[in-house]
Amino acid sequence: MAEEIQLSVGDKKAQYESLIPQIKALISGEPNLVANLANVSAALKAQFDFLWVGFYLVDKEELVLGPFQGPIACTRIKKGNGVCGAAWARNEAIVVPDVDAFPGHIACSSLSRSEIVVPFYSSGEVTGVLDIDSASLNTFDELDIHYLTSIVNLFSS
Ligand code: SME
Repeated sequence: MAEEIQLSVGDKKAQYESLIPQIKALISGEPNLVANLANVSAALKAQFDFLWVGFYLVDKEELVLGPFQGPIACTRIKKGNGVCGAAWARNEAIVVPDVDAFPGHIACSSLSRSEIVVPFYSSGEVTGVLDIDSASLNTFDELDIHYLTSIVNLFSS
């Protein structure tokens, strides 16, 4: 395993293209999900300096906070609640350009201005979500959905 992530200074696409092979190398050979989610959070935070990067994991009818990087966060989110619970209930990635315009958004940090949530699966069922908060409006788009989906697919089956 590499000891550190080589950060890219290119555009967003170049940053993902550089980071993803490193993430694959980082998690290859390690079967423990929590360890891998922790390192993926750290790698994404290091490359993009997002406000908050982390995972929520399905536990019965709730999402429970998993490995993350950033300010402390709410620990439990019910299915359908907030952006995370909505992505779980809808079975799809959600981009929120302005969190104040998303009905039911859960503000773990008052600094968060935009957000993306991407679910991942086991045997077709959502087992967790990747959640990223940005301190700027309009940070995320289809490109992020594309690359972040390819990252969470590393944990899907
Ligand atoms: N904003 C999220 C809650 C989780 S925090 O952003 C870390 C939501 O509305 O589900």
